[in-house]
Amino acid sequence: MPQANPRVADHPIDSQFLSRWSPRAFTGADISEETVLTFLEAARWAPSSYNSQPWRFVYARRGTPQWEGLLGLLNDFNRSWAENASVLFIVLSKTTFTPPGAAAPVPAVSHSFDTGSAWAYLALQASLSGWHAHAMVGFDKDRARTQLGVPADFSVEAAVAIGKLGDKSILPEGLQSREVPSPREPVSKFAFEGKFQG
Ligand SMILES: Cc1cc2nc3c(=O)[nH]c(=O)nc-3n(C[C@H](O)[C@H](O)[C@H](O)COP(=O)(O)O)c2cc1C
Repeated sequence: MPQANPRVADHPIDSQFLSRWSPRAFTGADISEETVLTFLEAARWAPSSYNSQPWRFVYARRGTPQWEGLLGLLNDFNRSWAENASVLFIVLSKTTFTPPGAAAPVPAVSHSFDTGSAWAYLALQASLSGWHAHAMVGFDKDRARTQLGVPADFSVEAAVAIGKLGDKSILPEGLQSREVPSPREPVSKFAFEGKFQG
């Protein structure tokens, strides 16, 4: 049964922003390399400071030899539902860059901000293509660094599971009630004209 989407925008926006959400009930469908590349293609076009494109994605599709390795990085809770995803990503960002005309790399102050844009593009493309993406901080970043051979000048940012939406009845009871697109604070809570308002 598809989950009803209770989200309503207060101001007119494209429906894709309300349709994207992060379920945990996935069907365990296989996914083609070509489909994964369409998600990554969307991430490719994200904006970044100096167009430095600091994002990196290490991924594994279910059924491939790399799958268990990435799944094993997740904490127990996230592994319990993400094991039914179709592809897992570890998202990394480069913490230094060489500005135009400079001879040596300098710290990239916006590497996480830029990479957040890339993840959002990836998630929106997945949603537009009939898949669902779910980001995670619940995984072992240190082990990810070692296991995936991530160099010191890269930050391990997040993990992402993408899959086909399954029936929530496959989840433990406590998670079934949370398996619905969540609400948001109104714009007035986070945007202020002219001066910060706490
Ligand atoms: C960076 C990031 C880390 C997250 N970590 C987890 C996680 O470890 N486990 C989990 O179940 N959900 C995780 N989430 C999902 C959020 O709880 C979810 O995005 C949020 O509640 C908003 O819901 P929506 O994505 O359905 O709109 C994470 C989301 C983001 C963006």
